Amino acid sequence: MKILIKDGIIVTMNAKRQIIQGDILIEDDQISQLGDVEFQQVDKTIDARGKLVIPGLIQSHVHLCQTLFRGMADDLQLLDWLNLRIWPLEAAHDEDSLYYSALLGCGELLRGGTTSVIDMGTVRHTSAIFEAVSRAGIRYLGGKCMMDHGNGNAALLTEDTTTSLQESVDLLERWHGRENGRLNYAFCPRFVPSCSEEMLLQVKQLADEYQVPVHTHASENKDEIELVIRERGRRNIVYLNDLGLLNERLILAHCIQVDKAEQNLLTTAKVNVAHCPSCNLKLASGIAPVPEYLKRGVNVSLGADGAPANNNLSMFIEMRMSALIQKPIWGPTVMPAEEVFEMATLGGARAMGLQGQIGSLEEGKKADIVVVDINKWHTCPVSAAGVYAQLVYQVQTQDVCCTIIDGKIIMEKGEFLTLDQADILQGAESSLQRVRQRAGLV
Ligand code: GUN
Ligand code: FE
Repeated sequence: MKILIKDGIIVTMNAKRQIIQGDILIEDDQISQLGDVEFQQVDKTIDARGKLVIPGLIQSHVHLCQTLFRGMADDLQLLDWLNLRIWPLEAAHDEDSLYYSALLGCGELLRGGTTSVIDMGTVRHTSAIFEAVSRAGIRYLGGKCMMDHGNGNAALLTEDTTTSLQESVDLLERWHGRENGRLNYAFCPRFVPSCSEEMLLQVKQLADEYQVPVHTHASENKDEIELVIRERGRRNIVYLNDLGLLNERLILAHCIQVDKAEQNLLTTAKVNVAHCPSCNLKLASGIAPVPEYLKRGVNVSLGADGAPANNNLSMFIEMRMSALIQKPIWGPTVMPAEEVFEMATLGGARAMGLQGQIGSLEEGKKADIVVVDINKWHTCPVSAAGVYAQLVYQVQTQDVCCTIIDGKIIMEKGEFLTLDQADILQGAESSLQRVRQRAGLV
């Protein structure tokens, strides 16, 4: 299969950060030529004249299992948000409701130019998420959410340690590397308050053995930190370090309540930070010290988190938000648009451990490509020098006109080739009715 993307403004994100007016030739799952492609017979041509051609956006922290709960947990802080709403709702999922929740999330993500996600699944029925992402065509790193400890409604989800570990390994064996390497497994302990020390130590061993990432939440909220200090006698990041979990295969969502000593630990161990600015504001958690992380060379990427914590899954909103929230604190020159766009592309690729394959548009890399229509009221005028600012501050999800992943066209002009929107919206609505009833929430 050969696809030609013709005559676009290509924002390469290569080492020289070149912006090239030209073509991209896709052969099977790869970019085979970029720039001036000589005439040849292709299966499909996409006219990108006057449009931006960008690397597929990478959201490094989402919860596809929570998409169904959008708008059902507003105006709460983290521990109440989890205990009163999210845990009962997640516990009420059946296989079908989880499948539709994940597909609903994928539809929104793909429509808005997100081509890859790092996802925290839920405790039960995780295969349904893998089935959904397999069908949707999105690039995926994630796994079953692991919980074997905790009070209150956490009990609706907690399992014994062995069951949680065994099921994680079974899912890894079944799904890791599937779909031409598009689906990959990560161990996903929920956060320290949901996990016994024994389980966290086993996760470290297994992740080393299988050489796969670990994804968890860390240091999002002040009460979470206090709880960890009470139960484990140390601050959160210090505790994770003492268990040997900090390394370049660890992706930590949030990292807001992190002191200087802990920042040093994250830096030295080359831990990846997944920054979720909208969620951090909405749950009143705080503002992560992202300019400090970037100055230290910590890899920072972006994510929307789950729909009930946001309530959008738009990378364009997160890019804009990540820049704006820092400026009143640090001054107007922090978080320049090019740096933000790097977090949304190469930063996410590094977090996934896929920087050799995705995150930039270069010959030999995977064809994860998004075309953006900038002939709109809010994107005019266009200047090559202002491309990054345009992408970070102005472009909206509806401006994405084509999403390609692994060399396959997933969405073109708002139409999906992998998903049936009417069927998914209907499946989501009827699933939610069952889940709400079971959870006893209206
Ligand atoms: N910490 C533990 N679980 C969660 C979750 O589902 N969402 C967020 N934002 N933080 C968490
Ligand atoms: Fe989260």
